[in-house]
Amino acid sequence: MKDTGSFPDYHRLVEPTRVHSSLYTDPEIFQQELDRIWYRTWVYVGHVSEVPNRNDYVTKSIGPTPVLLVHDRKGEIRLLLNKCPHRGNQLCAYREGNRASFTCPYHSWTFSNTGELAGYAYADGYEGASKSDFSLGRVPRVAIYRGFVFGSFAEEGPSLEEHLGGAKASIDQLLDNSPEGELELTAGFLQHRTKANWKFMLENETDGYHPAFVHGSVFQVTDSGIGSLYGPDSTALTRDFGNGHTEFDLRPEWRRIGKPMNWFGTTTERLPEYVAAMEGAYGEERAREIMIDGTPHIMIFPNLFIAEIQLFTLQPISVDETIQHVTALGFKGAPDMNRRLRQQTMGSVGPAGLLLADDTEMYERNHRGASIRDPEWVTLTRGLHRERRDENGYLVAHSTDEVPQRGIWRHYQNLMTA
Ligand code: FES
Ligand SMILES: [Fe+2]
Repeated sequence: MKDTGSFPDYHRLVEPTRVHSSLYTDPEIFQQELDRIWYRTWVYVGHVSEVPNRNDYVTKSIGPTPVLLVHDRKGEIRLLLNKCPHRGNQLCAYREGNRASFTCPYHSWTFSNTGELAGYAYADGYEGASKSDFSLGRVPRVAIYRGFVFGSFAEEGPSLEEHLGGAKASIDQLLDNSPEGELELTAGFLQHRTKANWKFMLENETDGYHPAFVHGSVFQVTDSGIGSLYGPDSTALTRDFGNGHTEFDLRPEWRRIGKPMNWFGTTTERLPEYVAAMEGAYGEERAREIMIDGTPHIMIFPNLFIAEIQLFTLQPISVDETIQHVTALGFKGAPDMNRRLRQQTMGSVGPAGLLLADDTEMYERNHRGASIRDPEWVTLTRGLHRERRDENGYLVAHSTDEVPQRGIWRHYQNLMTA
């Protein structure tokens, strides 16, 4: 389908260095985003460590649509739609559990966790009907990269690995921080409901321009050196991986400082078990490199944000409402590290956390501002004159530059006009 001549015209609304405010506030645009982004591209759903055993399930979502992430009775990972095919009731109301079948509460049809209808209540009313006509809906494409489960409603399209492209290296970097090379997401999720369009969050996650101001008070009271990472003298980089994936790369700063675990605000002495496990797994030299580099800060389009110590997923509910689901990262084989990861996550994005509250205030103000008619455009020119290609060919610039935001909108425009 071509947009040319029709409204909204995404060729007109998205320019290389500015975007039109209606992209954040127009309900019609939101509906088109569901069709062209959320129900078409690869969307992160959950992690295999959330369903470690056969028959485990968790309720998740792809955009506003609820899905069940299931480790089925045969051992496969599936994404089933959480809707009874009889009269459309929500099938499962629990957040998580372990069951080989789901029974709809309305008229008690029962479905195997592989999706097939197992039986009707009072089957004699269905003489001659075929059970195979009433399977649960399923997300047609499911793919897993190193434990990260993605789903796509498009029957065909780029593979997950093609979609992730350069962002795969950041996931690899993340998993290097586990002595066993694996994540364990067992901390449970908090949900933050925000009255703002989802793209404000998407853009902000790798915005290195705001922290010194929005989070300045936090850096001050915690006496943290983090603030300088986001200042004019920082050697950190913003990066556009293409396909809408963006990164705030802190490694140049951590390497310059050269102290293992500094990225985590601590020292090797305070995490002796973790350090021993890392050295045992990778050898002293490589472990030291990993512990200097730390974990990535990456936004995988459209909804997976890995922020050093925690993992967020963005769930758009409507044009002006988004839920941020967040959990502490956990590394397999690193119990002392995981304890601290949870504590820090609670301190930064928990119910009384200091960091997310600041950002959320900005998201809601962004949204209120976007509704004001004049000026109509949002400007994204910062650092245009100093962006360059890194050794892998990705666009990078200074830590405070708007390389990620320009990259996000380029990809957005491609998807919306495809
Ligand atoms: S709606 Fe589920 S059994 Fe009727
Ligand atoms: Fe922030």
